[in-house]
Amino acid sequence: MYIAPFGVEQWMNEWETGAVANLAETCVDSMTAAELLELSGRREEILERMMNLRLSYGDILGSDELRDEIASMYGGAGRENVVIMNGGAAANFIAMFTLVSPGDEVISVYPTYQQLYSIPEAFGASVKLLRLRYEDDFQPDIESLEKLVTGKTKAICINNSNNPTGSLMKEPVLREIARIADSVGAWLYCDEAYRFMVHDPAVKVPSVADMYDKGIVSCSLSKCFSLAGLRLGWLVGPGQFIREAADRRDYTTISCGRLDDLLARVAIKNREKIFSRNLEIVRKCAAALEKWVKSEPRIGCVKPECGTTAFLRYDYGISSVDFCKRLFKKDGTFIVPGECFGPEFDRYLRVGYAYEPDVLASGLKKVSEFLRELEAEKV
Ligand SMILES: Cc1ncc(COP(=O)(O)O)c(C=O)c1O
Repeated sequence: MYIAPFGVEQWMNEWETGAVANLAETCVDSMTAAELLELSGRREEILERMMNLRLSYGDILGSDELRDEIASMYGGAGRENVVIMNGGAAANFIAMFTLVSPGDEVISVYPTYQQLYSIPEAFGASVKLLRLRYEDDFQPDIESLEKLVTGKTKAICINNSNNPTGSLMKEPVLREIARIADSVGAWLYCDEAYRFMVHDPAVKVPSVADMYDKGIVSCSLSKCFSLAGLRLGWLVGPGQFIREAADRRDYTTISCGRLDDLLARVAIKNREKIFSRNLEIVRKCAAALEKWVKSEPRIGCVKPECGTTAFLRYDYGISSVDFCKRLFKKDGTFIVPGECFGPEFDRYLRVGYAYEPDVLASGLKKVSEFLRELEAEKV
């Protein structure tokens, strides 16, 4: 079985170690275990529980308590609608493994996290891409989607908010997409890895799991909870789908680890504190990035509304891969080239901005220096 190389992950694996200013990071400034315990206000008690935890497989699907905590973040979900996975990456993989059979049609937004189209393709689906364009603020064109669906459409895959663009589909757009999915009886699959980081507190965006009876979502503790090292993600969806996903997961996972389960419960119980820490970082850094973009006339950006990434468009005659390699070799500033998200994005850069403002500022300063170099070379 052929599967396309995972562009963004391969770029990260090849270049991330050794980065001096890492502008490719997509997690909100990761926490230490100590920070998490301090923030919970129950450090000693939790440490005691960790020390006394018997390191068996534990509950295969994730503890009831953890699945209840996760279900509480969604409108009508109970623990039977939740299965725990090794991160959002495994959640996406198992979901596609469960949904897609050879000959199915799958529609995916594009650009997005590559799992959403390369995995269905590997499982034998014919994949149609719904292109998100800079000129449309990276919002989907509903008429185009209407033309793409057919009676064979098994699933429509979206990513809200979107990696790499940071664009956010609001409720009316989501309802339109759900209506189109419903018109052909398709699943609506939404990767919601960044959904809890909506920059404007007045904007409320529902989960697809709460909007459509064939809605399935993935999420994890990596991005919005700053706990990627726990490798803890989940799927939320209709009970029958969750049972089928769990049947497949038996072959890959068994269980996700009892220490991770325990710390995940601590994190989700304290989510309001974590989100308020993280939203402050995200807003401050997004504003700094916006200011920098305005100071660079040959860089453009659709203002990100959610999450931790922005997709910068540039007007220099150099491919994004060459741009990023030269920049990295110059002084270790690390950015993901747009080409990792598809060949047509060769004049884009994905910047992750949600970490210490000083690192972001020094990285952007280095990028500006590099742009002056390109200008001197008349590139
Ligand atoms: C949209 C999206 N989904 C899923 C993942 C997988 O992350 P994790 O497995 O850490 O949850 C990522 C990581 O970059 C992502 O950007």
